[in-house]
Amino acid sequence: MSRPSRRTILGAAPVGVLAGTAPLSTDTAPAVMVSTWDFGAAANAAGMAALATGDSALDMVEAGGRVTEADESNSSVGLGGLPDRDGRVTLDACVMTWAGDIGAVCALEDVVHAVSVARRVMERTPHTMLVGEGARTFAVDQGFETRNLLTPRAEAAWRDWLKTSEYAPRINSENTDWRARGMPGGAANHDTIGLLAIDAGGRMAGACTTSGMAFKMHGRVGDSPLIGAGLYVDDEVGGATATGVGEDVVRVAGAHAVVEAMRAGLDPASACRRVIERLARLRGPKVASSQVALLALDKQGRAGGFALQPGFTFAVTDSGGRTRIERAAALFETP
Ligand code: GLY
Repeated sequence: MSRPSRRTILGAAPVGVLAGTAPLSTDTAPAVMVSTWDFGAAANAAGMAALATGDSALDMVEAGGRVTEADESNSSVGLGGLPDRDGRVTLDACVMTWAGDIGAVCALEDVVHAVSVARRVMERTPHTMLVGEGARTFAVDQGFETRNLLTPRAEAAWRDWLKTSEYAPRINSENTDWRARGMPGGAANHDTIGLLAIDAGGRMAGACTTSGMAFKMHGRVGDSPLIGAGLYVDDEVGGATATGVGEDVVRVAGAHAVVEAMRAGLDPASACRRVIERLARLRGPKVASSQVALLALDKQGRAGGFALQPGFTFAVTDSGGRTRIERAAALFETP
C-alpha cells in the first residue's frame, strides 16, 4: 500500500461522518490510523502528527492515547475518569507492537498517562504487566508525575452514584457522556479508547487505555490491558481492539479472535461481526442489553467494526490525513 508523505498528512483535516461498515472502496485511500468512538478523531490527529515527524506506529498510538487520557471531559479514560466504588480512579492500559512486544498496567493510580507507563513496562522491565501499587511505584521511579486523577466533576458523579450504588453499565456512554460535557450526576459507565496505526514503514502497533467501568469494585480489571482481549496486533494480518463491557470481551478473547478471523480471510468488519455473533451465541440473553464493540484494521488499510448494540462509532484516518467517523453496524440493530 502507498504510504503518506509527510507533506500530505500535515495540517488538520476535516472530520466527515459516514454510516455503515462496508470495507473501504477501492478509490478510498487506505486507513493508517483508527480508534474507538468519536473522541478517537482527536487521538488520530495526534497520531498523524507523530507520523508526520517520522515516528513509529507505536509512537502514533501512544500519542493518540495520551490525548484522550489528558482530556478531563472524557469520563472513561485517564484524568477525569469515573472512579471505582471506593472513589479511586484506577487506570488500565496496554500496548503491542509489530514485533510482538507488549506492555501493560492494571489498576494504576495517580498517573495520567497509563499508556506511556505500559510502554515503559514493555521497554524497561523484563515483564509484560505491572499492577496496582507495583505499577505506581514503577511509574514514579521512571519519572512520571503523580496527581489526583479524581476531578471535581467525576467526584460529584461518584457521590451521586453512592445514593443508589447501582452498578449498571450504560450502552454507548462513551459518546453520550463525552458529548454531554455536563456529566455530573450521570450514571455514566465504561470505558476506553483503543487505537491501531500503521507507520511509514508499514509496521502496525496498537494501544488501549481506560479508567474501566465506572463504579467497579476496587481491583476489578477489564479487557483493556489484556493482550488478546482488549488489543491484539499481528503484523502479518492486522490488529483489533475492543470497547464495552470488558468481562464479555475477555470471554471470547475478543481482539485476538478478530485477528484470527482476518487471518482466515475475512475483512475487518466481517471479522468483528463473527466474534460478536460468537459472543451472542455464548451468552444469549445475558448480553442482550450490554454493549461490546470491536474495531479492526488490516494490513491493507481496511478498517471495520461491529457491535452488539447500535451506536458504536470509530474514527478512521486515511493516508491522505482525512478523518471520518464511521458508525458500526450492530447485531441488535432494529430496522
Ligand atoms: N472495556 C473496558 C473495561 O471494561 O474496563
